[in-house]
Amino acid sequence: MSWKAWIATTGVLMASLPVMAEKPVSKGELLANSCFSCHGYDGKTVEGATIPPLADYPASMIVSQMKAYRDGERDGTVMPRHARGYTDEEIELLAQYIGKQGQ
Ligand code: HEC
Repeated sequence: MSWKAWIATTGVLMASLPVMAEKPVSKGELLANSCFSCHGYDGKTVEGATIPPLADYPASMIVSQMKAYRDGERDGTVMPRHARGYTDEEIELLAQYIGKQGQ
């Protein structure tokens, strides 16, 4: 790499550091990222996918359905097992984050 390219690259990296530092990832986003591996990036699945997208649901719906799966009130293949790992507080946090994706 030439010194000009090196300075250009380093400059860009240095310039972006403060921006990254100012935007910490919230706990809700961290938790919700595990949902997006199946429900699509940012809760938006591709057309024809069999797993429903979450981005259009309000936070209250995510909370009620997660608790229904967790507490055995709703059947499913994956979700009842997945939902058992979350506390009320974690469900609330991830639902708030997912609820903002459709807006
Ligand atoms: C391993 C894949 C997988 C992961 C991870 C996953 N889901 Fe699901 N989800 C599914 C499947 C499959 C269904 C359909 C119901 C079933 O078979 O369990 C579903 C259904 C749902 C539904 C019901 C949607 C509807 O239209 O009624 C909600 C709400 C939901 N998931 C929320 C979540 C949330 C919140 C997370 C993260 C905490 C999550 N899911 C993580 C696969 C997944």
